[in-house]
Amino acid sequence: MNSPQNHVFSIVKQVDAGGLPVEKGSRRLERVACAGAARRMRKPRPVIDFESDTLMQGWMRALEERECETASHCRRVVEKTVQLAAAMGVEEKEWIHFQRGALLHDIGKMGIPNSILLKPGPLTEAEWEIMRMHPVYAYRLIAPIPYLAKALTIPYCHHEKWDGSGYPRGLKGEQIPLAARIFSVVDVYDALTSERPYNRPWPVQEVKAYLRTESGRMFDPRVVKVFLALLDQETSHYFDRPARPN
Ligand SMILES: [Fe+2]
Ligand SMILES: [Fe+2]
Repeated sequence: MNSPQNHVFSIVKQVDAGGLPVEKGSRRLERVACAGAARRMRKPRPVIDFESDTLMQGWMRALEERECETASHCRRVVEKTVQLAAAMGVEEKEWIHFQRGALLHDIGKMGIPNSILLKPGPLTEAEWEIMRMHPVYAYRLIAPIPYLAKALTIPYCHHEKWDGSGYPRGLKGEQIPLAARIFSVVDVYDALTSERPYNRPWPVQEVKAYLRTESGRMFDPRVVKVFLALLDQETSHYFDRPARPN
């Protein structure tokens, strides 16, 4: 039967059959990262030009209207993701894809019903099952847009976990594209240090401790290492500013 659910499953099958490639060469990237992170940290931050990308601005407004994400969260994670990618040794020409992917990371929530997306309170297991489909919906939305092809890994893979316990595909370790491994650390950091409807922001030191605890479980240990080094060495307002409203 051609139900919307079957349609989604057919997309997943298609992707599993040869969709997003498993990244190669990230070991090399990491070696470069460890050797050069401190040097790169001293360089000026990557400049994020939101204003010239009108399509991205439109998406961001749409996400905010639908209450999928706030523009401020999107802006912060875009900036931090590109900074971390730069510190990890990702080439400058790739940053734009990290930027777009971070901006659109929860675009798939457009496919989640209001009754779940805006529910004031905890979700049931059945509702979580639907919520966990948002990376697949993101794939469905973005895959047909050629210029976003390289940005897709973040919206599609940002809930995968290093130990293989994530979703939607249960990818493990370096099977998870580097962009998604970098982004997931930044996204969790920003979420925990921000004011959210039912949670107070965590102190930065507690968030750092949490990232260390989840290193090797939820997160790529090498990404956590470079991110913590960034947090420690960053002297400007950006990483160490106090918790702020979302
Ligand atoms: Fe998400
Ligand atoms: Fe997020």
